[in-house]
Amino acid sequence: MGLVIGPRLSAAGGVAISGVDLAEPLPPAQMGQILGAFRDHHIAVFPGQALTREQQYAFAHNFGEIEPSGQPGSKRHAVAHVISNLDQDGNPVDRSSSPVSNYRWHTDKSWHAVPPLLTMLHAVELPPEGGDTEFANTLMGYAALPEAAKWRLAGLRVIFRWGASGGESVMTMREEPPVDHPLVRTHPDTGRKALYLGNHASHILGMAEAEGSALLDELLQHVTQRRFVYTHRWRKGDLLMWDNRCLLHRAVANYDMGKYRRIMHRSVVRGTVPF
Ligand SMILES: [Fe+2]
Repeated sequence: MGLVIGPRLSAAGGVAISGVDLAEPLPPAQMGQILGAFRDHHIAVFPGQALTREQQYAFAHNFGEIEPSGQPGSKRHAVAHVISNLDQDGNPVDRSSSPVSNYRWHTDKSWHAVPPLLTMLHAVELPPEGGDTEFANTLMGYAALPEAAKWRLAGLRVIFRWGASGGESVMTMREEPPVDHPLVRTHPDTGRKALYLGNHASHILGMAEAEGSALLDELLQHVTQRRFVYTHRWRKGDLLMWDNRCLLHRAVANYDMGKYRRIMHRSVVRGTVPF
């Protein structure tokens, strides 16, 4: 059996892809099919995958340069890295209330000058139920805006700063300077326009901070309406990759985080400067 694209997972995006073993090197024709499905649906889910962290890294490398996780030269080089709700002793902990937690709508590493193209997660260990991830389609959100709003947003740039969210800012040891990106960014593969915002978006360049953050809040409300959202209910072995250039995402705190373990292997593929 060859690679099968489908079914589509929601009106807001997502497609299942089966008939392929991601632990093995893929022929160029299959990579072409996967790239096409990813471009069209923004989220690709490969159910029932069994692959090592090294094999996941190799698969992710097909899509571009992998962002380093950990210090240069560390053991974590060339493998997918582990994310979990476990503390240093391996016990589950609830961190969902942190202002920088991934339970807030965000797009990965938006505070970087060159934010990532895609993120890939492999579900290794899951709670008995819950622990979902939600995705909001910012292409659809932009397209649904009234024309007058599109005119008003054209050319605006968002200041992103790690820890900035809705006017509050956390004390941080990080000293990365803020960056600015277009609020309406053009998808490099399709030319379609998408909103670029979420947690770590602070305010709008050249606009009073309160006015800018209020505008960002309003747009976030708009773009995260249920009609633009796909909720992924994980199954063990799912490998899911999503496009950070046209989606926001957040983890859903719908399981007992202080009790159950949730372990994922993550790879992040480098993107290009948003325009
Ligand atoms: Fe994230």
